[in-house]
Amino acid sequence: MCNHVTFSTLGYVSGLLFLLSHSFSPCALVIPSCSGSEALRPHHPAAEEPLTFRVIQISSFANQSWARNQGSGWLGDIQTHGWDSVSGTIIFLKPWSRGTFSKEDLEYLQTLFQLYFRILTWGVRAFASQLAFKYPFEIQASAGCTVHSGAGSESFLYASYQGSDFLSFQGGSWQPSPGAGTQAQTVCRLLNECRYIKQLVQMFLIVTCPEFLEGLLAKGKSELERQVKPEAWLSRGPSPGPGRLLLVCHVSGFYPKTVWVMWMRGDKQQSRTRRGDVLPNADGTWYLRVTLDVVAGEAAGLSCRVKHSSLRGHDIVVPWGRTL
Ligand SMILES: *[C@@H]1O[C@H](CO)[C@@H](O)[C@H](O)[C@H]1NC(C)=O
Repeated sequence: MCNHVTFSTLGYVSGLLFLLSHSFSPCALVIPSCSGSEALRPHHPAAEEPLTFRVIQISSFANQSWARNQGSGWLGDIQTHGWDSVSGTIIFLKPWSRGTFSKEDLEYLQTLFQLYFRILTWGVRAFASQLAFKYPFEIQASAGCTVHSGAGSESFLYASYQGSDFLSFQGGSWQPSPGAGTQAQTVCRLLNECRYIKQLVQMFLIVTCPEFLEGLLAKGKSELERQVKPEAWLSRGPSPGPGRLLLVCHVSGFYPKTVWVMWMRGDKQQSRTRRGDVLPNADGTWYLRVTLDVVAGEAAGLSCRVKHSSLRGHDIVVPWGRTL
């Protein structure tokens, strides 16, 4: 089996770092190739929805000499990893953030990320003027994979420049985003010449990522499958106009994120119900605010209804009271 372990030799990664720190072209690097990759067999219990692990990167280049790289890891909507850019180390935010990877595997990945951030910073600086990148600028990237229970996995890598789609990695090569212009075409042409970097990215996306994700799903099972019941309460919002009321239904403390909340009159859904964004609470649960603008005299008889998986069909119904 060819996986993150068989090609993990810290020695050559350190060698790469040495070469890079001496401004050696990254295209000249040799990274052992991988053959005979075995099909992945998902071994976690059937999840309701496919789960995605993604690594997010935000790189800010203020000027020729100042750059900052921020990194984080996310399993669905849960942040599992941070990146300490000073020490170049992975921060494990959950007791299960190591998944099933060994200490050596994780150290290897950490070194790979250090290497990546160095290549990126070095490469961007070296090519900034040729590419007409104007300081200050931001580069963002999102890379990861999704496993489907029993149906393999999919991987992705997208990058943006100044907040707009710039390029992606698809089918083993770099592709400019539609509309990203000649800058993206040039970057992709340069990157596509780096065969070994392409192999490394491909390896990370289609082998390492799904394996890591499988491990996270197995180790984080109890937290991922937890069910936390919402609480719901009502309040009056700022009046939308003379003789009108803004009824506010707050729903908080639920997990997972999917929730259904509606203003009702008896069994009739009020179509003018306005739903806010589902916002995070500090403890990893979620909060949602749902409003209804009504004529003051028509508030009586309305209620807020909440459906959530943790309630097992016993919806919460909070009637609008006169006291509000
Ligand atoms: C580069 O940007 C940093 C951060 O904004 C700033 O502190 C520094 O003075 C700048 N250096 C130069 C040479 O402009």
